[in-house]
Amino acid sequence: MRLLVLGGTHFLGRHVATAALERGHDVATFTRGISGGPPEGALPLHGDRDDPDALPRALESWGPPDLVVDTSCQTREAGRNAAAALTGVRGYAFVSSLNAYRNWPPGPIGPEDSEPVWDGDDDEYGPIKADAERTLAGALGDRFLTARAGLLVGPSDPVHRLGWWLERIARGGRVVVPDALAQPIALVDARDLAGWLVEMAEQGRSGAVNATGPVGMTTLGGLLETCREVTGSDAEWVPLPEAELLGAGVQPWTHLPLWLPRDVAVTAWDVDTTRARELGLPGRPLRESVADTWTWLQEHGRPPAAQPGPGLPEDLEAHLLASGHTRS
Ligand SMILES: NC(=O)c1ccc[n+]([C@@H]2O[C@H](COP(=O)([O-])OP(=O)(O)OC[C@H]3O[C@@H](n4cnc5c(N)ncnc54)[C@H](OP(=O)(O)O)[C@@H]3O)[C@@H](O)[C@H]2O)c1
Repeated sequence: MRLLVLGGTHFLGRHVATAALERGHDVATFTRGISGGPPEGALPLHGDRDDPDALPRALESWGPPDLVVDTSCQTREAGRNAAAALTGVRGYAFVSSLNAYRNWPPGPIGPEDSEPVWDGDDDEYGPIKADAERTLAGALGDRFLTARAGLLVGPSDPVHRLGWWLERIARGGRVVVPDALAQPIALVDARDLAGWLVEMAEQGRSGAVNATGPVGMTTLGGLLETCREVTGSDAEWVPLPEAELLGAGVQPWTHLPLWLPRDVAVTAWDVDTTRARELGLPGRPLRESVADTWTWLQEHGRPPAAQPGPGLPEDLEAHLLASGHTRS
């Protein structure tokens, strides 16, 4: 079928275009043309989603798609313009976020239908995703599925959260880690999500799906240990208590990616993914996600969008390691 990826040149969207090509679809991508080209075999169409004329104009040459996977919606206009231009499609899979929920973070998030999403005009990520979901669902009805994605990992990740841990752990030595290593966390490999989104569009599935890994699939410590194994590092953990990290100015999630203070972490990672499992969202072994991300990072280097990106500043790390609490 003719499958249009809104996005498709970067990370998740690029994996979607690759998966769609592998499944034999005739694939076009729609982007501004700033972030490079799509995978070989996909037709690049160009325009700005925020311009109401751009998508209809781009589709004049290619014709109407049968299926859409939308990874690039970040504004209300983008949602409205897609809804106006793509009402005839058979299946539309949209990438939203857990942030669409009013209660997340901190969560917990139960089954999709039991949780309120944002409404109103706030110019923020979660309300914008929720607004785009409503607009598109209004136009497409039961041909519209929204995947409320959790943490994405995998090769080509421009955000560099897992990437930073891999780089830091590979350098070895004493590595500052939160003392919350037993905290369960969950994540989804962008390649697993990508292939599944294509299938969901093919099947014309509808409704909302919490699209992340199952609760308890790993822990923060399990992930870091996998990074240590994959990089063959001699890194030695220096676990520090939350109060000391916060007191020193360590910013959760940003300076130590994937780390959240305990009172948020216990609920934020608690997301019901029963529907995702019922609909077959796969989850490859964590080790494969970590190893492939490490291979990609070594080949390509730190992505430009992650300069400087997340991670513990060296002076802050040195300060923490020198403090009296870090005797090993
Ligand atoms: N990373 C996470 O952990 C996480 C978690 C939850 C949800 N999400 C969601 O997952 C999606 C993943 O994003 P991604 O970066 O991997 O997607 P992607 O589709 O791989 O990359 C974003 C694409 O959008 C295009 N684009 C950006 N602004 C545009 C515009 N105004 N008009 C047309 N095209 C535009 C970019 O190309 P050009 O720059 O060339 O235009 C690029 O191809 C996002 O919707 C994000 O909100 C991510």
